[in-house]
Order: sequence, then C-alpha cells, then structure tokens
Amino acid sequence: MNVLFSLAVGLCVSLAPTALLSQERAEELGKQEYTVACAGCHGESAMGDGPLAGLLNISTPSLLELSQANGGTFPYEAVLTTIDGRDGVRAHGSSMPIWGERFQSSATSQRGETAEMVARGRILSLIYHLQSIQK
Ligand code: HEC
Repeated sequence: MNVLFSLAVGLCVSLAPTALLSQERAEELGKQEYTVACAGCHGESAMGDGPLAGLLNISTPSLLELSQANGGTFPYEAVLTTIDGRDGVRAHGSSMPIWGERFQSSATSQRGETAEMVARGRILSLIYHLQSIQK
C-alpha cells in the first residue's frame, strides 16, 4: 500500500488546483490521459483494437478484464509496474512505451512539485480510470 500512498500524494500535489481531488475527478483526468497516451494501441473502449494495434508484431491486450484475470481483484501493483516501466521488471522487448520516463521528462512544475510527483500522479489517474472500466 505504500506505493499507492505515495502515488496518491503525488496525484494530489500535481493535479489538484485546490486541496481536494475527488476520485471522480481523478478518473476523469485518467480518461483524458488514456485517450491521449493509450487509446492509439489499446483502443478508445480499451478492447485492444486501437489503430496502431495492427502495426505491432504482438497482439495488444484488452484492458477490460484485468480484474477478471486476477480473481476479481484489480491488480494495482501489476498495472502500476506495467504502465510505469521504469523498474525494468517488464519483459525485454515489450511494445509498451515506458510511461514513467516519458511523464517524468515532460513534466513541468507550476507549484514546486517534482517531476517524479507529476509522473506518479499521471500514472495514478490512469490506474483509477482503468479500475473504473473493469467488467
Ligand atoms: C505502442 C502501443 C501501446 C501503447 C501506446 C500502450 N500500450 Fe499498453 N500494451 C501494449 C502491448 C502490445 C501490450 C502487451 C504486452 C507488452 O508488450 O507489454 C500492452 C500491455 C498493457 C497492459 C498489461 C495488460 C495485461 O493483460 O496484463 C496494461 C495494463 C497496459 N498495456 C496499459 C497501458 C496504458 C495505461 C497505456 C497508456 C498510458 C498503454 N498501455 C499504452 C501496447 C501499448
């Protein structure tokens, strides 16, 4: 839970204009983020059917059954690691961009937050969104 807690702190610091960021708002931001960063491959409705999916030499998975495939529980840690990609746990040759690096290097600070906080906030908002669309 520690990882999630630090993510949550990052999310609040980086995304909340005021003190409180509701889960609803986080899901909404995650949805926008998803459309920009993920839908190209995973598809608008996350069924693995984005326009770029056909160009990859491996199939792009649907993201609607992550909970189902994990015995009904949303697999936070696994999804986090997959999206972030910075810890090198993912298999070599993965087709997924390393979002942790991208979000971090493109981060701009407006209120003194670190790039790491911004990156983690963006990843957490994506996780909220993915959790909200599970079958
Ligand atoms: C360039 C295409 C591409 C983009 C863009 C992309 N993915 Fe993926 N994603 C894949 C492929 C292909 C896999 C299958 C395994 C692999 O290569 O890692 C995958 C696997 C995953 C998995 C693991 C699914 C499972 O069944 O275990 C998750 C979660 C995921 N992606 C989330 C995301 C999120 C969130 C974004 C946007 C921030 C994103 N992906 C952007 C191609 C992409």
